[in-house]
Amino acid sequence: MDVIIVWIAKRWSKLLLWLGWMVLTAAIVGLYLPAIQGKNINDLQSLQPDSASYGHHQIIEQCDLCHVPGGEIKEKACQGCHKAELKRGKDSHAVRKFLDPRNASRLEKIDVRKCSMCHSEHRPGVLDKGGVSIANDSCIHCHDAIAQERPTHKSIGFDRCVDCHNYHDNRALHEKFLAKHLDEPDTRSEATVPDRNYLELFKKSFGRKRDISELNAEDADQPAELKDVQASIEEWARSRHAAAGVNCSDCHSSSKKRSRTKSTTPMDAAKWVAQPERTVCRSCHRSQVKGFLTSHHGMRNAVEGMSPLTPEQAVLPMKSERHGEEIDCATCHDAHGRITPEIGVDTCLTCHDDDHSRAYLASPHGRLWSQEQAGQGAPGTGVTCATCHFPRVPQRKRRGVVHNLVQHNPSGTLRPWSKMVREVCLECHGLGFSMNALFDQQLAADNFNRAPGSVQKSLDLLKQKQNQKR
Ligand code: HEC
Ligand code: HEC
Ligand code: HEC
Ligand code: HEC
Ligand code: HEC
Ligand code: HEC
Ligand code: HEC
Ligand code: HEC
Ligand code: HEC
Ligand code: HEC
Ligand code: HEC
Repeated sequence: MDVIIVWIAKRWSKLLLWLGWMVLTAAIVGLYLPAIQGKNINDLQSLQPDSASYGHHQIIEQCDLCHVPGGEIKEKACQGCHKAELKRGKDSHAVRKFLDPRNASRLEKIDVRKCSMCHSEHRPGVLDKGGVSIANDSCIHCHDAIAQERPTHKSIGFDRCVDCHNYHDNRALHEKFLAKHLDEPDTRSEATVPDRNYLELFKKSFGRKRDISELNAEDADQPAELKDVQASIEEWARSRHAAAGVNCSDCHSSSKKRSRTKSTTPMDAAKWVAQPERTVCRSCHRSQVKGFLTSHHGMRNAVEGMSPLTPEQAVLPMKSERHGEEIDCATCHDAHGRITPEIGVDTCLTCHDDDHSRAYLASPHGRLWSQEQAGQGAPGTGVTCATCHFPRVPQRKRRGVVHNLVQHNPSGTLRPWSKMVREVCLECHGLGFSMNALFDQQLAADNFNRAPGSVQKSLDLLKQKQNQKR
């Protein structure tokens, strides 16, 4: 006993110091813990941005896009930016389906009305490339009776559902769609890539109000005072804009009311805009501009106050040639909007430098393109980067025209893998072949340089069902 008292007496000053430290630490934690728990994001700026998901890494620094000042997630913001895409994919589990009171019991286990239930941020290593943070077998919460409903599904584990179905866009994996494309050949004898046909829609939309007959160099309506413009006039005169009656003033005038009638009289020099911006393209190419602004190429342009993306900010591997260059329409199109064959391959390869991109030229698709360039293949037989990533997709009929719109958001067909099947591969290949090729991750990384094995089992399962019926 004495020994202990002596020990304490000897060290009391040190002990007191320790005690003081502990009290002080507790006080600090007590003050700050609620702030962290309440997700006071202003104190936590340091979390960012290297831990962001791939989809959002470009915009993650703008906390208020997704968080209210207190830190909670703005669920409406997720929907605001993604509604159109989910709608286009005929979302199988759209939020509105779960507003029905009959589904209330299901939501007790997993509240799927909240996007943040399954998608997260700031969790390196946990998120997959699509930003999904939930376990694969979560389908069990609501589909536990699937084996009774569908005998074909008896021996399938709940961690396998996502091999054959998507949570949102199940269009290419649905029974009816599969049944329509059973037993197709690997490669079709005729490709069915739609033509670009914007001119037809343009004529129907504006043709009554303006003369859209072809313009020549002498019709150019730039201000008479403008110097050194001959090269630009010649470039324009060779473009399809000139052929469609689109004159200098359509893009270079600051006047809100651009002439809708054909005018070849020189425009007012005071209204000349030397470097027209993307907004002028919008009056005729609204969908391309929108696609660009929702893509990895242009998403920063859509956020107020953010600088446009430059290649060195990418997560994907990029060549250094174009570092520092701000990406916009003119990155891929020349000033006067001509489409040259190189745009679908050479232009992309001035930046992209990942395994898949580098493997392209040696692939069967790349060889077809090289042959076409050399005049050995018929026009349109080459399969370019743009064929797959900027596909021409027929839209709903407008003014009597089915417009084959060039998609300007490559992500729109990239993830999940099945999306590219409907809008691209089926133009030339059968469904079974396409599904097997896309499902095989290594084959995609090698840019489809060999025939796929039989790895995707949806069609086998459907055949099994049809045989059981017989
Ligand atoms: C693209 C949308 C988005 C942006 C931008 C964003 N966050 Fe988040 N954040 C999320 C999501 C989703 C979650 C996960 C919520 C959940 O799991 O309930 C989250 C969670 C958090 C959390 C809570 C962490 C936890 O584990 O509970 C903090 C703190 C946070 N974010 C801070 C920030 C800060 C600081 C910024 C800006 C530098 C930012 N966030 C930008 C989407 C975003
Ligand atoms: C029950 C989980 C779950 C919920 C809730 C959920 N998602 Fe998803 N989401 C997924 C999964 C899984 C994927 C991966 C691809 C797939 O299966 O469709 C995905 C993929 C996506 C994609 C990629 C494109 C696509 O069509 O697949 C977007 C965009 C997306 N989700 C947005 C949202 C938004 C916005 C909400 C809220 C309205 C939401 N998600 C709610 C599970 C969920
Ligand atoms: C300011 C607009 C904006 C907001 C807010 C936003 N996103 Fe996104 N999101 C994008 C863009 C742009 C992309 C990248 C292009 C793409 O994938 O289509 C993307 C990518 C994604 C992806 C990956 C899709 C893929 O193809 O891999 C998912 C999943 C996703 N967002 C879900 C969400 C969820 C959940 C929220 C809310 C927490 C949210 N987003 C908030 C604009 C936004
Ligand atoms: C919160 C409950 C819930 C969860 C979790 C859930 N589902 Fe569903 N699922 C439903 C409901 C409800 C329907 C029926 C929707 C309807 O009637 O249109 C449905 C429909 C489907 C369909 C048919 C879609 C169509 O377009 O015909 C498929 C396939 C499907 N779910 C697969 C999945 C997979 C795969 C998962 C896991 C990644 C999953 N579901 C998770 C509730 C859920
Ligand atoms: C090997 C591929 C495969 C797997 C794995 C799979 N399914 Fe299916 N699923 C199909 C096919 C093919 C159909 C249509 C024919 C049928 O009923 O068998 C279908 C039909 C469905 C449908 C009806 C909607 C439709 O497309 O007609 C639902 C719901 C469904 N599956 C849910 C699930 C769930 C939940 C799981 C995980 C336990 C799962 N599936 C696993 C291939 C698969
Ligand atoms: C379809 C829209 C459009 C039309 C029509 C058009 N321009 Fe341009 N022009 C642009 C854009 C956009 C730029 C800026 C490109 C950039 O930022 O690099 C530009 C740039 C220029 C330049 C700067 C030099 C250069 O090439 O960058 C001159 C000079 C010019 N245009 C003259 C003309 C003249 C003269 C006409 C009519 C004969 C005309 N443009 C018609 C869109 C147009
Ligand atoms: C007054 C309407 C109008 C404006 C403004 C306009 N365009 Fe066009 N553009 C057209 C029409 C019409 C065509 C279709 C010509 C055809 O197919 O023969 C076209 C075609 C194109 C093409 C395809 C050319 C080809 O060789 O097939 C590109 C690229 C293009 N525009 C880019 C732009 C860009 C970039 C801007 C903004 C700087 C812009 N356009 C502004 C009307 C316009
Ligand atoms: C990353 C490269 C890239 C960027 C950036 C880009 N485009 Fe394109 N664009 C293409 C490719 C590739 C095609 C041609 C695809 C084809 O041959 O079908 C195209 C085609 C077009 C067409 C012709 C459509 C038709 O139906 O004839 C228009 C118009 C167009 N782009 C406008 C724009 C506008 C406006 C912007 C800026 C908002 C823009 N593009 C940005 C790559 C790009
Ligand atoms: C000036 C450089 C540049 C050019 C030219 C360019 N890209 Fe990109 N591309 C990028 C950058 C930067 C990203 C963003 C990567 C990131 O966010 O990490 C990107 C992203 C992509 C993605 C990924 C989308 C996703 O959801 O994962 C695809 C696919 C793509 N580009 C295809 C193309 C094609 C096809 C062309 C040619 C028509 C092209 N790019 C031209 C710089 C470029
Ligand atoms: C036959 C169609 C096809 C062609 C041709 C093609 N791609 Fe892809 N690309 C795909 C598919 C499918 C994926 C998704 C791969 C995956 O899931 O890993 C992809 C992925 C990508 C990505 C995203 C890579 C990543 O890691 O997320 C980029 C960037 C890209 N492609 C650029 C290009 C460029 C540049 C070219 C031309 C040099 C090209 N692609 C040619 C189909 C194609
Ligand atoms: C415009 C037509 C076209 C489109 C679109 C297209 N392909 Fe191809 N593909 C071909 C042709 C033609 C061949 C060469 C076939 C041959 O040599 O027998 C080929 C070859 C292939 C091969 C190699 C086959 C072998 O035996 O070596 C694979 C794998 C492949 N394509 C996958 C795809 C996928 C996946 C998509 C969609 C993302 C796609 N293709 C889109 C026309 C196309």
